[in-house]
Amino acid sequence: MTTADTTPTPAHDADQIHELRERMITRMWAINALRTDQVAQAVRAVPRHEFASEFAADEVYDMNAVLRTRFGPDGETTSSVSGTWVQALMLEHADIGPGMRVLEVGSGGYNAALIAELVGPDGAVTSIDIDPAVIDRARDCLAAAGYTDRVRLAVADAEHGFPDGAPFDRIIVTAGADDLPPAWTDQLVQGGRLVVPFSVRGFERIYVFTRSSERLLVGEGGDVAGFVRMQGQGEHVQRQVPVAEGVTFTTDADPLPDQDKLAQVFIQPAHEEWTGVRMGPREFFATLQMWLATDMPGFGTLTGDADALGHAPMPGQRTPALWNGTSLAYLVLPRVSTDPDQWEYLVRGHGPNATTLVDSLVERVRRWDTDHRGGPGPRLLASPDLPPGDEVIPTRHTYLVARWDQPLDTPRLDWEADPET
Ligand SMILES: C[S@@+](CC[C@H](N)C(=O)[O-])C[C@H]1O[C@@H](n2cnc3c(N)ncnc32)[C@H](O)[C@@H]1O
Repeated sequence: MTTADTTPTPAHDADQIHELRERMITRMWAINALRTDQVAQAVRAVPRHEFASEFAADEVYDMNAVLRTRFGPDGETTSSVSGTWVQALMLEHADIGPGMRVLEVGSGGYNAALIAELVGPDGAVTSIDIDPAVIDRARDCLAAAGYTDRVRLAVADAEHGFPDGAPFDRIIVTAGADDLPPAWTDQLVQGGRLVVPFSVRGFERIYVFTRSSERLLVGEGGDVAGFVRMQGQGEHVQRQVPVAEGVTFTTDADPLPDQDKLAQVFIQPAHEEWTGVRMGPREFFATLQMWLATDMPGFGTLTGDADALGHAPMPGQRTPALWNGTSLAYLVLPRVSTDPDQWEYLVRGHGPNATTLVDSLVERVRRWDTDHRGGPGPRLLASPDLPPGDEVIPTRHTYLVARWDQPLDTPRLDWEADPET
């Protein structure tokens, strides 16, 4: 692993920092990432530049900037100081009060210092990281910012939590997780909260789980996140099947689709059906991805460009797709009007059962449009015990059930309100 180049060190001017930080706070209130004075005060109190001395002040105090500090052998980011908006949002979700005991999983120092502000002198903050160099760096930064005695640091793998400091009132995970290890539930007090960037079949969302009983977590939330991936025992290697030149199918389905069969099906003529569901510019479709991912057996995503898929894929080139063993169907999003700008979901399919599979995907998209568009996404129930009679998503440690009955007034981020865009 390598660390970000730390020279030269930009000088940080106190007036400039004050101005930049206030601007950042204004933006975070505007988009609803900040929701309480307590979290805003913590952001005001902690000198973020002390945790990112190798970066210029305007970057440090840009709410969207992810400050990348550690890189793996292929150049991928393995550690960063996360964007401030997401740190603030997760702290708001955590609802941390004075005197609480909090575990942060994935360290860096800055977020731990914010938590220290929120728990105050009677609370306790433990921050763990799997990478000893991250802990060393965090220790130096916390010392420079004056938080040495207020945060306990340790090298540990998230998979086991941190038994020594348990039980915790709150656990905040800051690396992308694909599972909920039993240690997290066990080390949380009854009614305690676990805030985590959590992927369901490849779609990462910020979830706030509450420990509602001995073995049950109930999660709400659903804002889109993009964290560095979990390493160590909880690392999840995405299973990919090459389908054609530039086209890959990614799925958790077990067994994996047969590559030759999938490739043969993909070159057969396409059956297409319009859904009648249109989108305008900058519309929110994150719940559609979750709606499809949470209860379609054979679900996966197809990566490929418009040439390969016949039409424009969904943004981010992660096109929801279904494989039923003989046929493939997937969702594309061609632009259908330029004045006004509009896109319409279209379903394509290949193979002997393409028509049936395409119909079921079309019907699903239409139900999202009528029942869940603009809504908050699903509640997630997570337990190591198999629930009776529900559609279940199995992960290594837990069974997940998605419930689409969340009340519709959950506060959401509002990116349109950012005064600087
Ligand atoms: C986005 S960074 C953390 C940011 C930090 N919370 C901050 O203050 O900005 C994610 C961290 O998770 C750590 N990490 C990844 N897998 C882990 C694991 N299994 N256990 C503990 N830490 C892990 C990485 O080494 C990385 O430093």
